[in-house]
Amino acid sequence: MPRIFSGIQPSGELHIGNYLGAVKNWVALQRKYESFFCIVDYHAITLPYEPADLRQRTRDMAISLIAAGIDPSACTLFVQSMVPEHTELAWIFNTVTPLGELERQTQFKEKSGRQESIAAGLLNYPVLQAADILLYKADLVPVGEDQVQHLELSREIARRWNARFAPEGSPYFPEPKPLLAPTRRIMGLDGQAKMSKSLGNTIGLLEDPKDVWEKLRPAVTDPKRVRRTDPGTPEICNIYHLHQAFSPAATVEHVAVQCRTAGWGCIDCKKVLFESMEAELRPIRERAAEVRAHENELDEILAAGAARARSIAAETLREVKHMMGLT
Ligand code: TRP
Repeated sequence: MPRIFSGIQPSGELHIGNYLGAVKNWVALQRKYESFFCIVDYHAITLPYEPADLRQRTRDMAISLIAAGIDPSACTLFVQSMVPEHTELAWIFNTVTPLGELERQTQFKEKSGRQESIAAGLLNYPVLQAADILLYKADLVPVGEDQVQHLELSREIARRWNARFAPEGSPYFPEPKPLLAPTRRIMGLDGQAKMSKSLGNTIGLLEDPKDVWEKLRPAVTDPKRVRRTDPGTPEICNIYHLHQAFSPAATVEHVAVQCRTAGWGCIDCKKVLFESMEAELRPIRERAAEVRAHENELDEILAAGAARARSIAAETLREVKHMMGLT
């Protein structure tokens, strides 16, 4: 079975943008591939953060992932800092990564532009990401468009390391390819920007239904539909896109007709969306409550995931160090 690896930052509870854009795809893939899913806390510390929050956010992310359908008995789910080989290989890769490539990364430019003082770790972020993937010699990496440039760099690092240290004609590290998620990127409730926790335009995956409705009710729809009697254009409406993600095909079709003919107002449409979301999210919330009620089991799951990951990672690192003349 080909191997996949993907990582997610420990931002706490998942929001429906992460869920639709990434995690739902992981759930669909976890039995088709030998799968590794990693909560990347070492990546999270490259920007300012609160130590007391990080541990909780890491746990909450694990709970959200399991609630969303990641099955720790079908894949390897683990926390990055519990497998020290990640940082060890990252150091090694730093020695074959051209500085210019790191400075060219769009995400680095965006994130560093917002910082007063820029940590070297932010620049080296994609090197750690390459180490994540290559430790497991993953063939495919399920990610969104925004990670494509980081993956190109992972391939470049694999090529450079192979050229320098692997025997001629038998590359040690495979060049990992992105496996792009089928879902389009989900916009925030403001309809302005991608759904993102830092912008406060999200719906939490585990959010109370009352709060979900309070957020949906005022959410931006088709900006051209001003009066109730104006016919709308579903294709430019964020709520319609959410219907496409959550509602059955027949409902999606019906919604489009009601919108174009002004049969429904936007609130009618949102009520139907709310029902569709509830159908998918209620069981997820129930599962999360169950995981939370058995916190010790969560520790065991994460310890077992780290042990399994580590057995592979340690073997890779042993071979790598041998080929590099390290002791
Ligand atoms: N940089 C990724 C993101 O922000 C997270 C990540 C870290 C990752 N390591 C990874 C994704 C390895 C895929 C593979 O989304």
